This record gives sequence, structure tokens and C-alpha cells, in this order.
Amino acid sequence: MIYLDNGATSLHKPQEVHRAVANTLRYCANPGRGGHEAAMAASRQVFACREEASRLFRCPAERVVMTTNCTHGLNIAINSLIPPDSRVVISGFEHNAVTRPLHARRTKIRVAGRRLFDWEDMLESFEKALKSGVDAAVFTHVSNVFGYILPVEEMAALCRHYGVPFILDAAQSAGVLSVDMEALGAAFIAMPGHKGLLGPQGTGLLLCGHEPRPLLFGGTGSESLSQSMPSYLPDSLEAGTLNVPGIAGLAAGLRYVRSRGIDKIFQQEHRAMTRAAADLQALGFHPFVGEHQAATVSFMPETDCEQAAKMLAEQGIAVRAGLHCAPLAHESAGTLETGTVRISFGHDANPGQNAHLRRALAKIIPVKG
Ligand code: ALA
Repeated sequence: MIYLDNGATSLHKPQEVHRAVANTLRYCANPGRGGHEAAMAASRQVFACREEASRLFRCPAERVVMTTNCTHGLNIAINSLIPPDSRVVISGFEHNAVTRPLHARRTKIRVAGRRLFDWEDMLESFEKALKSGVDAAVFTHVSNVFGYILPVEEMAALCRHYGVPFILDAAQSAGVLSVDMEALGAAFIAMPGHKGLLGPQGTGLLLCGHEPRPLLFGGTGSESLSQSMPSYLPDSLEAGTLNVPGIAGLAAGLRYVRSRGIDKIFQQEHRAMTRAAADLQALGFHPFVGEHQAATVSFMPETDCEQAAKMLAEQGIAVRAGLHCAPLAHESAGTLETGTVRISFGHDANPGQNAHLRRALAKIIPVKG
């Protein structure tokens, strides 16, 4: 199978990740819950993961919190920073992981920047929203549907200028673009462990610049006499037994990404995306392409998107079709009615994948016009 659904999860993990998970299952018990060797070995794995993340994202290690996925981190961040009925500005390319928690809190949402790949439009409308008075901002780094890279450094600078705290959703950027907590000055940055960081599913990281509020309450292995959660990070947000095999795998993924270099990984993926976009164009499709684009490209076939994805799957190509849990992004791009077929490359992108994809795409009919 040619796996081109890395926007959903990375499938081909480095061998080091496999080994770390298997070893941890053999040797590690419960971190922070005992002084014996198996518990201490587990604590060391978790500590190593925090240290790796701290180095890659320039965030103090104790402010790196283990989560179960990016959605979990975003929910903690939104719960901590955004009281019910607040006014919040978001981009026009947010995922349901952002919009649903905001809706659940009856947030007054203002959407800024709905034009795909248009930084000028994004920055202009985002600043207008900040000026009009909002309590917080939440925005994605990269659209999961279109690969659109938002001007997050500039958006962060605007937030700092207007004194508006913000949450960054780094679901599609962690591991392929620079995510620098110190430089951005974010209140929170949430990311999954299982996409560009190449860890197992069930892992995620939340970087905390702002004081958080726990979402889960329970045992932490610390301050057991108290009926309140510990007031300090990371314990205040890590109730219950951690996913140590997953975290050890994530640490291995982080080490792999750091040693290969995120710039090199990005360039390799980006070259593959550019080739795929050119092939789509040559075959008569009109893929969504722009200047600020990561390794994801969406297009529309003449048939139903799910049908086209099925046809690709029958030829050994794995992609994702439909709305990608991001109806707002599709509404912004005008594809809410139809959805799109999404091709998303990963760290193992190579010309062979493109050749196979090109042959498979040739059997699909492009949308007219
Ligand atoms: N949010 C993930 C995707 O874009 C699952 O497919």
C-alpha cells in the first residue's frame, strides 16, 4: 500500500519507535507510583519524552504535559483559558477539535481569514477582530484539509501587541515546521504524538505557557493526602496512569525527527506534494495549491469523493475523502457540499509514491470546469 493519509496519522514509524514501545511493555511499570526499578524505569521514559519535547519546542520540560491526543490538549487549553460566553477569534480553517469545544462553551466566535493561501487577508481580518475586542484567539498552524500554512508568527505577534492570549493547534505542523513556544509566547500549544512526531496513537503533548485548569481529577502519585489536584505542572494535568509505552514511542519519534531535522523532513514531503499537485494539474484536475502549503493537497473528482478514494484504495493508494472533521475549512474553500479527496505525504515521501499515485489518478475523472 502507498500510504498518503499522514494528515490523519503517520503509519510508517521508524524502527526505533517500534523498539521503544516493545521494550517499555517488557520493563516498565507505573511512573511516579513506586520506588522499585520497574516504576523508576517508567518515570525515566516519561522524563526523557518531556526533555526531548522541551528541546524541540523550546518549552520548559515541566510545562510539557502528556495528553492522549491533540483534541485532549485543546480541550484542556480551552477549558483553562476561555470561560463560557467569552468572545474568541478563530481562523477560517479550524478543525472540529477547536470549534466543538468552543461551541460547547457557548463562545461568541468570530471567524477571521477565509481565503485559502492568502496571508494578507488572514492578517488583516485577524487584526480587525483583535481590535474589535476579543478575550482569546485560537488558530491552527496548518489546515488539515488543504495544507495551508497560516502566518502564525505574525498572528502571534498581533496577539502579543493587543494583549490577547492565544492557543495554537499544531496538529499538522509539529515535526515538520518550527513550533517555538518561547518565540511565539502562546498560552498553550497542543499537538498529537501520532502524526509528524511519529509516535503511537494515543499520545499527545500540551505546552503550557498559561496556568492551566485540570480537566481530569484523580491520582497523580504526588500529594496523595490532599483532595485537590497538585497545583504545579505537570502533575496538575496528569491524573491517572500514563500511557508509558506510547510515551516511550513518542520520545523515540521526537529523537528521530530531531536527528533527521525538521527542515529536511519538510523539504522531502513538500517536494512530493508539489509533484502530486503538478500531476493532478496535468491530468485535468484543479487541485487547491498555494504559496504557503505543507505536504497536503486536496482535489475534487467528478464522482463522489468517497467513491474516488475507494477507487484509489483499490489501486493500493490510501487517502482520506470527505469533510475531514473540518466543515469550517471546507466552507471557507467552498467545498462544504462536496468535500474533497485529500492526499497527505509523510516523512517517507519519495518519487516512487508519486509515480504510483499518478497511474492511479489517471483512472479518475476530474470535476468539470
Ligand atoms: N484530524 C485528522 C485528519 O485530518 C484525523 O484526518
